[in-house]
Amino acid sequence: MHSIIIFASGRGSNAQAIIDYFRNTGKAKVSLIVTNKADAGVLEIARYEHIPFLVIDKQTFKEALFIEQLQEYNPSLIVLAGFLWKIPDAVIHAFPNKIINIHPALLPSYGGKGMYGHHVHNAVIADAKEESGISIHYVNEVYDSGNIIVQARCPVHSNDTADTLAQKIHRLEHYFYPRTIEFILNHP
Ligand code: GAR
Repeated sequence: MHSIIIFASGRGSNAQAIIDYFRNTGKAKVSLIVTNKADAGVLEIARYEHIPFLVIDKQTFKEALFIEQLQEYNPSLIVLAGFLWKIPDAVIHAFPNKIINIHPALLPSYGGKGMYGHHVHNAVIADAKEESGISIHYVNEVYDSGNIIVQARCPVHSNDTADTLAQKIHRLEHYFYPRTIEFILNHP
């Protein structure tokens, strides 16, 4: 049984999709949820699903201890799902090729620091792009620049708002993220 650790800062709809996808498969399970926000929606999911969770904060964060805490769960994969801290280099080095992220745009466009959630969708709409999409990629030391594993596209219409585009993006994410995780676990 593969162990998956999810890092999330927000509502956690991707976390929920991943939990649901692997439920009762016997292949993988979400063993830990990490968040940097004590009021993140993803914590309600963790409590409801009886998944252990860890809340981290900048004041008390200790890199070495954090790595040990993650190692206790022996993760096959660490999955960032709307996690808004930059992953410290030491954590990346402790889990080589085991950390992936989902970004709500077609990287390398609309990535980098400060580009998350509606900031991304607003920028895509402001540029009158006719399509957007998602990028699932490995995490390296530079924001949103690791090797891309999968991209999927959706149209952007002239009447789309950040909210309607976010809905389309979430639909793609909920479909592709669990299946991409499964693919990676099957092809280590
Ligand atoms: C997702 O759309 C994800 O791509 C995005 O945050 C959202 C989290 O939604 N991540 C980023 O923007 C990272 N730069 P969720 O909490 O409902 O899963």
